[in-house]
Amino acid sequence: MADSTERSYIMLKPDAVQRGLVGEIVQRFEKRGFKLVALKLVTPSLEMAQKHYYDLAERPFFPTLCKFLSSGPVVAMVFEGEDVIRQGRRMIGATSPLAADPGTIRGDLAIITGKNIIHGSDSKESAEAEIALWFKPEELNSWKKTDVEAWV
Ligand code: PPS
Repeated sequence: MADSTERSYIMLKPDAVQRGLVGEIVQRFEKRGFKLVALKLVTPSLEMAQKHYYDLAERPFFPTLCKFLSSGPVVAMVFEGEDVIRQGRRMIGATSPLAADPGTIRGDLAIITGKNIIHGSDSKESAEAEIALWFKPEELNSWKKTDVEAWV
């Protein structure tokens, strides 16, 4: 991985899976040029959800948010690329889908903050911590993009 290349933890929440939005959202990241280095479907325990959102433990919505995250399968992913943490957040849009710009994932696909379909790391530190929480090192795939013609 080049020095300027980062990794971000991107998670499709249970509402995205239930609504069949997985393919569309993964495609947005792939089409933008970010490289998928890890992906798995997992139903998080309540404890896992609480660990993921540990910094929000004092917020009034914390119990609801953790219960929601552990209510069904989520798609846990790591994308790699130039500025992927910041760009991923831009692609995702504002926390409240009603405030999210059209063209963003939340602005196009969601309405309610409590069901805002996707999470993306907000800093290098949180990306590292979240990737380590959700993935074992051997689940992260380092691979090089090669000429498409070789694969068809
Ligand atoms: S905040 O309020 O500044 O901490 O907001 P933000 O950093 O954007 O949000 C942190 C995560 O909390 C989720 N969130 C909520 N969930 C349920 N209900 C309410 N009211 C609510 N407000 C914020 C928000 O979606 C963020 O989670 P992720 O998974 O990153 O989207």
